[in-house]
Amino acid sequence: MKEYNVAVIGATGMVGQRFITLLANHPWFHIKALAASSRSAGKKYIDAVGSRWVMKTEIPEQIKGMTVFDATADKEKIAGMVDFVFCAVDMKKDEIRALEEAYAKLECPVISNNSAHRHTDDVPMIIPEINADHAAIIEAQRRRLGTKRGFVAVKSNCSIQSYVPALHPLMKYGVKEVIACTYQAISGAGKTFETWPEMVDNLIPYIGGEEEKSEKEPMKVWGKIEGDKIVDATSPKITTQCLRVPVSDGHTAAVFVSFENKPSIDEIKQAWKDFSGEPQALGLPSAPKQFLNYFEEDNRPQARLDRDLEGGMAISIGRLREDSVYDYKFVCLSHNTLRGAAGGAVLMAELLAAKGYMD
Ligand SMILES: NC(=O)c1ccc[n+]([C@@H]2O[C@H](COP(=O)([O-])OP(=O)(O)OC[C@H]3O[C@@H](n4cnc5c(N)ncnc54)[C@H](OP(=O)(O)O)[C@@H]3O)[C@@H](O)[C@H]2O)c1
Repeated sequence: MKEYNVAVIGATGMVGQRFITLLANHPWFHIKALAASSRSAGKKYIDAVGSRWVMKTEIPEQIKGMTVFDATADKEKIAGMVDFVFCAVDMKKDEIRALEEAYAKLECPVISNNSAHRHTDDVPMIIPEINADHAAIIEAQRRRLGTKRGFVAVKSNCSIQSYVPALHPLMKYGVKEVIACTYQAISGAGKTFETWPEMVDNLIPYIGGEEEKSEKEPMKVWGKIEGDKIVDATSPKITTQCLRVPVSDGHTAAVFVSFENKPSIDEIKQAWKDFSGEPQALGLPSAPKQFLNYFEEDNRPQARLDRDLEGGMAISIGRLREDSVYDYKFVCLSHNTLRGAAGGAVLMAELLAAKGYMD
């Protein structure tokens, strides 16, 4: 497989740090540039990130001394140094849209964790096991942007990465209605218990914008390419409640589901066991071998025990049972900054590289 030089934009942030740890020993991708805001620009990475480094492993040696660029002012320089960029920044949405398109127009593909472009019609929002085929829309986007290589591809919000994968293999039974209540870790807000002590022994029943994203984004993931657009799916009906809970990493969802053609419990478990996607078929380096994992124990999945399954890239499911109002209910879990953020983005980049979109 060809190797690629990459940059991490937003390298000092929570997701940026995850990118750095995931890419430090990546077989295909090599970090050649780091960028953040003008506050960090010109500093050595170790000084720019300072006490904000929250990964369990040390900052990789080769990264510590790298000088951080200004993501906006130095974009031409960065685009000239690398084959594509990973982007996870805390900026206003219109600024992010402009920044990402600017890199794309410099013929530098952007793999984004940001939400700004998630509903741009010709920007694919890819969960690699589910809608790898949406990559084909990149050609339409390139025509709009007037680029040969450059494009933007985004990953979906971390909240949907447990229940959309669990529901996907069940779509053949006509998933009709879904309730998903999410219990979301504090790292999803870029926080730790040190930086957010109010979350110790607490629960906050509000995460700004999260319920809207959690209901809307699955429809794009399950949408279809029509002409130069991805057209959203119109079913199932999904309603959500999203709560912030005192967990460091790992978003859990409690799901209720009804079907057009109700499957048996055994059929559902078999559908989960048998499911795999293009990442598994292509043997991508970050792909979990078994994407969906059902636990028979009543007290699983648990955030602390199960979030790191297969490097935090697998989904854990448990407690499947009949419901008195809906057909079934179950609980699922995914690691929000691995599968839900940086890991999912690295897997998407591997998929797009394997399909030739980075050449
Ligand atoms: N945390 C998660 O689980 C998660 C999951 C999915 C998606 N996301 C998304 O990923 C993005 C980053 O999240 P995060 O949790 O990593 O945030 P974060 O920890 O607050 O980090 C924000 C990053 O953005 C940089 N930044 C801020 N203003 C900038 C500017 N004007 N130009 C360039 N860089 C700028 C910061 O650089 P400085 O250090 O120089 O300020 C920092 O590197 C957000 O869009 C978020 O919604 C997060």
